[in-house]
Amino acid sequence: MFGIICFITFFGLILVVFSDPLIITDCGNEDDLIKIKNIRMMPDELPIPGNITLSAEIEVNKDLAGAQLDLEVSIQKHFIFWLPIPCSSLGSCAYDVCQVLDNKFCVTGCPPLLANNGIPCLCDTIKAGNYSISNQRINIPAIPGYFSWLATGYYRADLKLRDRTANKYVGCLHIEVTIV
Ligand SMILES: *[C@@H]1O[C@H](CO)[C@@H](O)[C@H](O)[C@H]1NC(C)=O
Ligand SMILES: *[C@@H]1O[C@H](CO)[C@@H](O)[C@H](O)[C@H]1NC(C)=O
Repeated sequence: MFGIICFITFFGLILVVFSDPLIITDCGNEDDLIKIKNIRMMPDELPIPGNITLSAEIEVNKDLAGAQLDLEVSIQKHFIFWLPIPCSSLGSCAYDVCQVLDNKFCVTGCPPLLANNGIPCLCDTIKAGNYSISNQRINIPAIPGYFSWLATGYYRADLKLRDRTANKYVGCLHIEVTIV
C-alpha cells in the first residue's frame, strides 16, 4: 500500500515538474503608466479556438488623451529552445496602440467585454483610474489559415508599452502559456 502511494506521489511530482505552467505577470516598474494589478485566466491552457474566463484589475495612472503609445510584442515558441515568432501582421510586432484602437472601435464602439463593464477603449476617453473585469467569458476565434502552424504548444510573450514622447517603457506584461 505504502509502495503504491509512493509510486503515485512520485509520478504526481514528475507531472507537476514537467507540465508547463501558466504565468501572467506584470513585468514593469512601480511607477508605470499602466499596471496589471491582478490577472487570472481559466482554464490554465489557452484553447484556440475556444472559450476562456478572465478576471483582471488594471490601474491607469494618467489620462491617456493625446498619449503616443507603442505596444511592442515579442512572442517565442518553445521547441527544444525558444524560437522567436517573427512579425507578419500577427506575431512579434509593434503596434501604435491609440491608432489601432481608433481604427478598430471608433466607429463600431467598444467590444462588449469592455462596454458591459463601463470600460472605455479609445485613448482619448481613457481616464486615470482602476479598471476591472470579473469572470468574463471570452470567445477566442480560430487563427486564420496562414498562422495555424503557430497553434498548439508552449509560448512565452512579452508585451511592452512604450511612451514615444518620453521615450521610455510605461507598462509590461509577461505571459507563459500552453496553447491547445
Ligand atoms: C464557446 O461558448 C459558446 C457559447 O458561449 C459555445 O457556443 C461554443 O461552442 C463554445 N466554444 C467552444 C470551442 O467550446
Ligand atoms: C487605484 O486604487 C488604489 C487602491 O484602491 C488607489 O490607491 C489608487 O489611487 C487608484 N488609482 C487611481 C489612478 O485612481
